[in-house]
Amino acid sequence: MDFKKDPKTKFRNIDKISRKEAREQVEALREGINYHDYLYYVKNSPRISDAKYDRLFKRLQELEKKYPGLADENSPTKRVGAEPEDKLKKTKHKAAMMSLNAALKEDGMKEFHRSVRQKLDGKPAYSAEPKFDGMSVEVIYKKGGFATGSTRGDGKKGEDITKNLKTIGSVLPRLRGKGKPPSLLSVRGEVLMRKKGFQELNRKRIEKGQDPFANPRNAAAGLLRQLDPQKVAGKPLDVYFYGILECRGEKIGSQSEALKKFNEWGLKTNPENRKCSSFRDLKNYHRRMAEKREKMDYEIDGIVAKVEKFSDRKKLGVRERSPRWAQAWKFKPKQEVTTLKEIAVQVGTTGMLTPVALLDPVDVGGVTISRATLHNEDEVREKDVRPGDKVKVERAGDVIPEVVKKVSKKGGKRGKKFKMPRKCPSCGSKVFREGAYYFCPAGLSCGAQMSGRIIHYASGEAMDIEHLGDRTVKEMVEKDMVKDVADIYGLKVRDLKKLEGFADKSAKKLRRSIQSSKKARLDTFLYALSIHHVGHHIARVIAEQYRTLEKIKKAEESDLRKIPEVGREIAKSVSRFFAEKDNIRILDKLGKAGVKVKKMPGKRKKKEFRGKTFVFTGELEDLTRDEAKEKVERSGGRAASSVSDNTDYLVVGEDPGSKLQRAKKHKVKIIKEKKFRKMLKT
Ligand code: IVH
Repeated sequence: MDFKKDPKTKFRNIDKISRKEAREQVEALREGINYHDYLYYVKNSPRISDAKYDRLFKRLQELEKKYPGLADENSPTKRVGAEPEDKLKKTKHKAAMMSLNAALKEDGMKEFHRSVRQKLDGKPAYSAEPKFDGMSVEVIYKKGGFATGSTRGDGKKGEDITKNLKTIGSVLPRLRGKGKPPSLLSVRGEVLMRKKGFQELNRKRIEKGQDPFANPRNAAAGLLRQLDPQKVAGKPLDVYFYGILECRGEKIGSQSEALKKFNEWGLKTNPENRKCSSFRDLKNYHRRMAEKREKMDYEIDGIVAKVEKFSDRKKLGVRERSPRWAQAWKFKPKQEVTTLKEIAVQVGTTGMLTPVALLDPVDVGGVTISRATLHNEDEVREKDVRPGDKVKVERAGDVIPEVVKKVSKKGGKRGKKFKMPRKCPSCGSKVFREGAYYFCPAGLSCGAQMSGRIIHYASGEAMDIEHLGDRTVKEMVEKDMVKDVADIYGLKVRDLKKLEGFADKSAKKLRRSIQSSKKARLDTFLYALSIHHVGHHIARVIAEQYRTLEKIKKAEESDLRKIPEVGREIAKSVSRFFAEKDNIRILDKLGKAGVKVKKMPGKRKKKEFRGKTFVFTGELEDLTRDEAKEKVERSGGRAASSVSDNTDYLVVGEDPGSKLQRAKKHKVKIIKEKKFRKMLKT
């Protein structure tokens, strides 16, 4: 049983399996869930749907309940999420940041209400709030000033994201309001990204050749865990506060008092929060919010009901990972049944082949759907969907609609079993498989990949062709003005004038910037080619090793593997790229068009830098952090972001931070920027 890769979620009746089987399944489930927690919480790139994950989790809970002997302190059912990654400093929360039990149906919610009423011996009042689909954070104010903030992590310890939180406008540097602020206030809230800001951010990312975020939650989580706060500043992040973890110096007795206080202090609360005093109220609130959901400018996936009075909460207590005084009530995923007409294969701008279900158009929660993704070949097989079948389709938030399952139907003619084509449906090149996915290797000539590749080629971090943005490239491709990336160099002013929004002057400008991009350093050029797995850093590592394009073209996979940072997937991908004759044809065409790739300067290793680790603190006068780091690496050293026993030098700029104290403690050599610049010159 492997629950890591495309896990099966149909299980045999729990009463019919042996203890041995149960033990094996428990172990496999724990491993699988840990892995998916890691992808979701740490890497922000889930591989399975929430529904699938929930089924795995539920099965594990059931098995543990039936076989108490298999219980384990470290089981995923006993904690909230995965361990935080090591890169950001870990920090202990003021109080456990618990998770919420969730009901999917009215029955589950009624059961919660019933048990609360029973334990409290009376009618409880609730605070009903939207359940945000964002990233949970702890924010601490000391004597009214913003002190620190962290991610939820495993619920007990999270990652210190103080600097990133500071860049969010709605996280105030000081509490407002009359009177003395609490000596210590630790609050819990949710950082989220609004739908509009998310679309805009993704548009910019695509323009720059970066992968777009899958959804606003991933975008918010990805940004918050950035090591460099500069990359977070100015991003459309927002926060709503909804809970107290600790408060010294202020007596607060209920959720509504807390929310009122939050407002006075300037801690943003959600305008949809309501007090409910009966189950009917809760039900109405749930219905109203479900109706409103689509129109809201941020994503919510349910409501949360929290017992109002803190004294009541105390009476109710908590479970291992969730309180007994609160419960989420999720919204129904938007699903409809329709007929699958055909399974087409779509080639994405990165060359990935995706099976897509073409459907009889159907209205799913107010949006007409006629296509839905089937993700990959294995998934189509597992779901066993074929043309002619009735299928259930689901649309969750802003993500692409997906086929959930086949709905059984007697009789009726079924089409053929699906098989991934061996050749790219767009250009005919032989496709290759990596993990569960298939790719077309002809990145430079395949029509389907064209606009994405050219957009990346022209982006600021690649060939940096000014005025050649996303829309312009798409229009060029649509109008057949370019058939491959090399064609851009042949475009005349009179051609460019045909593009929307271009007149004589702007067309001349664009032509000039295209023409002036003909000289590029090898690493930049290599990066610009959008080779699968070759980002900035790997492009530089490879370029430094081979120094000329000719040598890279001839490099065998086994040679590439010898470079320390180049793993199997990368080596394979690079050699595959250069083995594809269409790619070579386009490279030659680029050469003929006048593109000159400059030889890569070798790594100038300096004695003082070799094998040494540098850390920076404070603002440097002449260099940005990234430039300084690059210089260290180019000189043969290593740049790290935090001080440890392995640090050799701490370079101190204006207004240094806490790293200075740490460096003193670890007896790290401390140097000023001036001295650092001198070292670089020698
Ligand atoms: S209260 C102990 N209120 O839902 C109570 N949580 O697993 C804990 N969430 O990660 C949380 N909206 O980040 C609360 N209005 C809200 C919320 C909310 C979203 C998140 C929370 C947690 C998840 C539940």
